[in-house]
Amino acid sequence: MKYHIWTIGCQMNKADSWRAAQELEALGFVPTKEPEDADLVLLNTCVVRQSAENKVYGRLSSLKSLKTKNPGATIAVMGCLVEEDSTCLEQRFPFVDLFLHPSDVQGLMEFVTDERRQATHRAAYKSSRAPVSCYVPVVHGCDNFCTYCIVRLRRGRERSRPVPEVVQEVRSMVDRGAREVTLLGQNVDAYGHDLPDRLDLADLLRAVHEVDHLSRIRFLTSHPNDMSERIIEAVAELDKVCEHIELPVQAGHDLTLKRMARGYTVDQYRRLIDRIRHRVPDVALATDVIVGFAGETEEHFQATYDLLAELQFDVVHVAAYSPRPGTAAMRLEDDVPAQEKDQRRRLIEELQRRIATAINHELLKSTAEILVDGERKGRWRGRTHTNKLVFFEDDRDWRGNLAHVEITWAGPWSMQGKLKVSDPL
Ligand code: SAM
Ligand code: SF4
Ligand code: F3S
Repeated sequence: MKYHIWTIGCQMNKADSWRAAQELEALGFVPTKEPEDADLVLLNTCVVRQSAENKVYGRLSSLKSLKTKNPGATIAVMGCLVEEDSTCLEQRFPFVDLFLHPSDVQGLMEFVTDERRQATHRAAYKSSRAPVSCYVPVVHGCDNFCTYCIVRLRRGRERSRPVPEVVQEVRSMVDRGAREVTLLGQNVDAYGHDLPDRLDLADLLRAVHEVDHLSRIRFLTSHPNDMSERIIEAVAELDKVCEHIELPVQAGHDLTLKRMARGYTVDQYRRLIDRIRHRVPDVALATDVIVGFAGETEEHFQATYDLLAELQFDVVHVAAYSPRPGTAAMRLEDDVPAQEKDQRRRLIEELQRRIATAINHELLKSTAEILVDGERKGRWRGRTHTNKLVFFEDDRDWRGNLAHVEITWAGPWSMQGKLKVSDPL
């Protein structure tokens, strides 16, 4: 039996697809790059912006002819396209055999096999190899009310996984070869707020830190309102927790933030960044920004631009506002023309390219510790604690090991280095 998985969207979807692939392989399925050859095709979907949703519909349409040619193939659709009530989707896409809510890998397994067979293959799953760097979802859903965001409508209320369950999963991944885990949540720093014992992300980081042979821990994405002193303290104190925080600001003007219902002001955000940088001096910070939100004037946009120039993030993910059905922002006029949104996006990308180049140039001639996660075009690739991508050459097999390299070239998105002569494997 062959399977083919197509994934679009955030790390949560990537984590779910990886998990589905592992479970299917444990059942004896083998991967194929060609959907036409597959007995099972899984589309893991995203609808965060109209452009993502269009890609999903394009992909779905192409599967219709596949089903006509091969009626025996199973077509499953998972992810944020699938609403609580999937009746409309079932009517619109009758050739799809199964619609699954976001992260419902278990539902897929129940569809493809019976319980007895699942149990037999659990052992095979446990002995399969894990990537060096793994994603571990720790909190599903979102309890915020950002007016532009469809995610909370599709992924439901926050549900945190208990600490022992997460630790057990991390331990099992490490036993199978993982050296780094990234703990995932839409607002990962809200982890635990719904748990009966009120443990929080700081407690979870401390518990995961105890796992032997694990080298690094990351977590994303954080919401400014949930980034507590306890979490900052855990990042500062715990060796394995990387100095890397993704903290979306979304806009640099209070009026836009208010319209987005983000729940903080620019000044509160600025003070939070100050506190983090003070307590974790070498921290790398990433942020998300939406340009061209409803009512965003030139002046409002300039404020966002100026804030990014002031705060000097290591990474900025910028997106043009895309009105989403069912969100509160649909009641506001989408009044920034598409061309203007595009222009604002490009201006920020250009600013960030200059900032990232300057930040990375500072690292030239310094020594960085790289966790090697794979190979590309004959060079080893890995990341620093601060999530910078570094390539280097060596004949030995470095996968899963920590290498010390001197940075010899730095661009805005990646760097090259030379292995320290003394470095043993
Ligand atoms: N939970 C995170 C937060 O609160 O920032 C991120 C969730 S969302 C999956 C990832 C990013 O997509 C957001 O940070 C935002 O910048 C962007 N995004 C979400 N809705 C959008 C929309 N309607 N139009 C454009 N970008 C959007
Ligand atoms: Fe991820 Fe958002 Fe897309 Fe859902 S809609 S898959 S949460 S990016
Ligand atoms: Fe939630 Fe808003 Fe993020 S609704 S997922 S906090 S963008």
